[in-house]
Formats: sequence, C-alpha cells, structure tokens
Amino acid sequence: MKIRAAITGIDGYVPPDLLTNKELEQMVDTSDEWILSRTGIRERHILKGENRGTSDMAAEAVKGLLKKTHTSPDEIELLICATVTADLHFPATANIISHKAGIKNAWSYDINAACSGFLFALATACQFVESGLYKKVIVVGADKMSAIVDYTNRDTCVLFGDAAGAVLLEPASGEEGIMDFILRTDGSGEEFLHMKAGGSRRPPSYETIDAKEHCVFQEGQSVFKFAVTKMADVSAEIMEKNNLKSEDISWLVPHQANMRIIDATARRMGISKDQVMINIDKYGNTTAATIPLCLWEWEKRLHKGDNIILAAFGGGFTWGSIWVKWAY
Ligand code: UT7
Repeated sequence: MKIRAAITGIDGYVPPDLLTNKELEQMVDTSDEWILSRTGIRERHILKGENRGTSDMAAEAVKGLLKKTHTSPDEIELLICATVTADLHFPATANIISHKAGIKNAWSYDINAACSGFLFALATACQFVESGLYKKVIVVGADKMSAIVDYTNRDTCVLFGDAAGAVLLEPASGEEGIMDFILRTDGSGEEFLHMKAGGSRRPPSYETIDAKEHCVFQEGQSVFKFAVTKMADVSAEIMEKNNLKSEDISWLVPHQANMRIIDATARRMGISKDQVMINIDKYGNTTAATIPLCLWEWEKRLHKGDNIILAAFGGGFTWGSIWVKWAY
C-alpha cells in the first residue's frame, strides 16, 4: 500500500502584543470601518522586543509541537520553514529554529513562496515521507510581517500581522494524509507584490532606506483580481480532479488575506461559510502562518477522515491547493 504523509500534530504561536484598527486610526488616515469592510480584519498581533525575529515565534511553535506529540527533538529528520521574513539573509531561519528547539539530527532549509509558502513547504516535505525516506518531518509557516511593513503607508500597514505555526508529518497507512496538491507560480506577478530593495539586484543603501524600499510594496487591486480568481479556480480544480463534491468537503482552510477572497473561494466550491476556517479578524494576514494557524485553532473540531482543502494565493505570484484527509 502507498505510504502517505499525514499531519499528526500541530501547534502555533501568536505574540501577545495587539495592534487594533483603532490604534491604526491614530497612525494613518484610515478607519476601523474601512479596514473591517474591505478586509475583514479587526486586530493583529505584533512581535515586539529587540533582536526578536521570525525564528523566535517559530521555535515556540516547534517546541510546543514536540511536547504535544511526545516527540524528542532527536527524532526529527528534516525541518522546512516557509517565510518571507527570514531572521537574516543567511543562514536559513530553519537552521536557527532547529537550533533553538534543540533539533540536532536533522537538516533544515527555508522555502520562499510568500503567502503560499506553507503549501509549498508541505508538498515538499510530503515527498520525503511518501518515499519512505523519513518518518518525522516538521513544516513551519512563520512570518514577522511587522519587520517589513511601513507603518506610515495605509495601503499595507493595516493588512499584516505576526505569527507562526508548525505541523508534524509522519507516514500513514494510505487511507489518510496528504492526498493531492496543485501548486503554481507566475513570476510576472512580481511587479504587483514585492520588496524593492535589500536583495542582490538592489542592495541596501541610504537611498533605499530613505525611500522605504525595504518594506512590502503591493498594488492591492491588481493582486486582488488575480487572487480572487486563482484561489477559487485552484480549489475547484483539486475537487474536480479528485471527484470531490461540495458535500464531501468538511473544511476549507484558506489563506487569510481578505475576507472577500475567502468568500469567493467558498462560493466557487459550493460550501457554506460555517465550513470555512476564518480568523483573519484576529490576526490579519500573517503570510506563511495563516493556514497552520487556522488548523491549530480548529484542531479540536477536526475528525479523522475529514476532507480538508487548503488554499492560498500570494506574492510571486504563487498559488495552490492541497487536499488533506485528516488523520486524527
Ligand atoms: O496575501 C498576499 C496576497 N495579497 C492579497 O491577496 C491582497 C489582495 N488585495 C486586497 O485585499 C485589497 O486590494 C486591499 C485590501 C489591499 C485594498 O482594498 P481595495 O478594495 O482593493 O481598495 P483600493 O486599493 O481599490 O482602494 C480603494 C480606496 C482608495 O481611495 P480612492 O482612490 O477610492 O479615493 C484608497 O486610497 O480606499 C483607499 N484606501 C484606504 N482608505 C482607508 C486604501 N487603503 C486604505 C486604508 N484606509 N487603509
């Protein structure tokens, strides 16, 4: 029987400090009403403190995951971290997370696929388990978006928050686990969503700092148009490909960028809103962390055999969907 990779545990970390819409009203020309009606966001969490980065949140999630699943750090063979807010350009944040969580017998690396990062990392990790090579792999989705947000720009500063989520992947019998995935990229999307400087094309300089080119740049409306069609299309496509009907689906776990994109995806799949995991109101867009954060919050309501569709769209452009049959 085919070995499948199943999610066998999940944990998350959200930093304690809140940034509410009301507070943002004091910082830029915006309103609670605008943010809530256009995005669905009420508040987001921000990681504060000197020298604290994405790895600090991710390490908390990984340590929690190890404890919850009664797994020794020594048993982990591979750790993959999806992030666009690496602690440093190098070494990889995954290496730092492994070190902080006491994982010593593994190799680890980062994946950069922006808001689709967790899906790309999960599909990659899945191969190592399905091939029979590894028995315990951790996939992390974590971002400290507050590090790359310009809090004087209302176009982006209302959207993002900080968080981390981590899952354990183990071999399963063949009945449950990661059943299928469809993942895509389109590099022509770069112009609509990117960070202008800090990379090899435009290294940091006084000029890039003055121009705030180390912050997220997004042409919201253009990204919205792509996101709303691609995320809905790819979610419908994975259902058709696997002959899944609306009534077969227990949950949609969408990337949390905008309530209107989430609604359009659910409509396209023919499922009702109470089958959609939504926590954008509390956390905003935490980039690679949104999907594991939802699974973590809903964990107690999930049942063995539930058909779950994970779906995301993000910078790159990157997008995709994964069909998971919940394993516990
Ligand atoms: O996660 C990665 C992928 N990213 C996404 O999926 C994000 C996709 N895009 C979006 O979610 C939406 O485009 C946004 C939430 C970013 C923006 O919403 P929108 O409905 O597309 O607004 P808009 O950019 O078309 O702006 C409408 C108006 C503009 O004013 P005028 O030109 O109509 O006078 C903006 O200047 O709203 C204004 N505006 C704001 N007003 C108050 C833009 N940002 C704000 C703000 N507060 N924060």
